[in-house]
Amino acid sequence: MATWSAPGKVFLFGEHAVVYGKPGVAMAIKPRVFVTVRKSKNPTHAKSPYIDECFKAMGVRGSVYVHSQLQSSSGLGSSAAVTVATLCAINDEYNLGHSRDAIADIAFNIEKKVQRGRASPTDTYVSATGGLVLITGSSKRRLPPQNLQLVVGNTLVSHSTSKMVEMVGAQRKRHPDIINPILDAIGAVTMTALHNISNPKELGRCMDINHALLEALGVGHPASSRLILAARTTGAYGAKITGAGGGGSIIALCPRRAKSRVAGAIESCEGRAIITSIDTEGARREKND
Ligand code: MEV
Repeated sequence: MATWSAPGKVFLFGEHAVVYGKPGVAMAIKPRVFVTVRKSKNPTHAKSPYIDECFKAMGVRGSVYVHSQLQSSSGLGSSAAVTVATLCAINDEYNLGHSRDAIADIAFNIEKKVQRGRASPTDTYVSATGGLVLITGSSKRRLPPQNLQLVVGNTLVSHSTSKMVEMVGAQRKRHPDIINPILDAIGAVTMTALHNISNPKELGRCMDINHALLEALGVGHPASSRLILAARTTGAYGAKITGAGGGGSIIALCPRRAKSRVAGAIESCEGRAIITSIDTEGARREKND
């Protein structure tokens, strides 16, 4: 029996703009998905198409048990975390010898297949490797970890990443002179944020600007606006949508002492709050019998 876990992720800066080759920064966060795989002559049928595809891709059969601290469709990369943890557990249980990079690649292809063509290579990479990651085009580079104190607010409004990405693409086609400069500006905010990565006040300001630009792209939602306002007025340095928008989750960068106040404000606006910080480990072996 092999049990592995993998973390979720947030986009700190640059979502949507990364689709057009601009830089973005993502970070693995503490809530995890735990997956146990056991060799079995009578494999249980997995309820998730991601898990079915993991067994197919690795060419084995077995039984599986999943425990998740991440809500699905919340924009926190839960399907990538399930896929990465399942592949790692299969790899371990059957001694297949795949590297972590190879697992991240297989996981990305599974996400693409299950999601019919659209998947985020960022989600699977960050879940596999952990830490803070700079994305530029197809390249990904781990940055030195930063002690950023975050509160995540899930709006509980489910969204579709592919629909939001398609919508931005359609807007860009219709109004290239407006949308392209917005995408450029998001890339510039990401670079400014990187230069100020250990200055939380400046980072918070960058988050607020990034959020305004995402709203201009049309990926805002009244529920995320409510949570962001609640976080800003209760002491966050800054707050923004994280991920595709249109619902999903927001993040607020907070002084440590303000985290529970910000989380309370989010909950009183009918959001679900998670107090969290960076996860530097990525996919990890939990216990093997
Ligand atoms: C979704 O988490 C982030 C997007 O930028 C899509 C992607 O990077 O693949 C909207």
